[in-house]
Amino acid sequence: MSLLQVSDLRIWDGITGNVFVPNSSFELKPGSCLAIVGESGSGKSLTCRAIMKLNKRTIRQSGDILLKGIRLDQLSEKEIGRRRGKQLYLILQNGMRAFDPTSAIGIHLRETLVHHYGWSRSEIVDKMKQAMLMVRLKDPVEIMNKYPHQLSGGMLQRIMIALAIVLEPDIIIADEPTSALDTVSKYEVMEQFVRLRENMGCSMIFVSHDLGIVRKLADEVLVMRNGSIVERGDASVLFSEAEHEYTRFLVSSHTALNEHFKRVTGGPVYVNR
Ligand SMILES: Nc1ncnc2c1ncn2[C@@H]1O[C@H](COP(=O)(O)OP(=O)(O)O)[C@@H](O)[C@H]1O
Ligand SMILES: [Mg+2]
Repeated sequence: MSLLQVSDLRIWDGITGNVFVPNSSFELKPGSCLAIVGESGSGKSLTCRAIMKLNKRTIRQSGDILLKGIRLDQLSEKEIGRRRGKQLYLILQNGMRAFDPTSAIGIHLRETLVHHYGWSRSEIVDKMKQAMLMVRLKDPVEIMNKYPHQLSGGMLQRIMIALAIVLEPDIIIADEPTSALDTVSKYEVMEQFVRLRENMGCSMIFVSHDLGIVRKLADEVLVMRNGSIVERGDASVLFSEAEHEYTRFLVSSHTALNEHFKRVTGGPVYVNR
């Protein structure tokens, strides 16, 4: 049984008629992590946002999107709105865009959790404190009093992960959540994604350029190119036995980059651990 089933997804520009994703079908099994890899512009973000019906109005989509047996594509904006955050939780590249710049982090967290669960203020603070400590954010109360611009990109992403721990969504969709971060923050955030998978076993769609990260996190991988899925399969198999030339190219560039990095730094690279 699949948790999420996407069938014949087509995404196009409603104004120009330009087709970005001609026909995609894939599924996410409960408790598993599906990685989507592919070069910039291959349709990864449009695909993620289509699942949540979050693409701009000018972007059109067709096809069936089934979450736990419910056709998401047929829901009204209000109904899908209720499922965003609680059932489908999106973590974007830039944490800053996920938060309202004019309010303190704690207010944002409270509004989100009251909206989905109706918890009291003290319940929310307790749960968030616990979750923030889990993602190694020290001084959670101090952080909740800060505004987004007062925190680093890595901290904002870890707050997003902490909120996911509290919300317990059915699926976390993470769209290149570490690509805007510096190396240290990238490592810290990645560590939390790995822990999230290990400790909570939550189902996840993880978009990334970084094959090292994908190797650590994903059970299955989709390789996208020019809007189409050109290869798919078990993560471990795909890395060693990629059939499509493009996948082999991605894997070999990753290996070459890693080797280069090892030579430059004289040591092992974290993504290979
Ligand atoms: N809002 C938009 N309007 C027009 N074209 C878009 C829009 N969003 C994305 N595209 C185009 O769709 C293609 C796929 O984009 P995207 O899904 O963002 O790629 P990826 O996430 O793989 O880098 C690109 O060619 C991009 O230019
Ligand atoms: Mg993208």
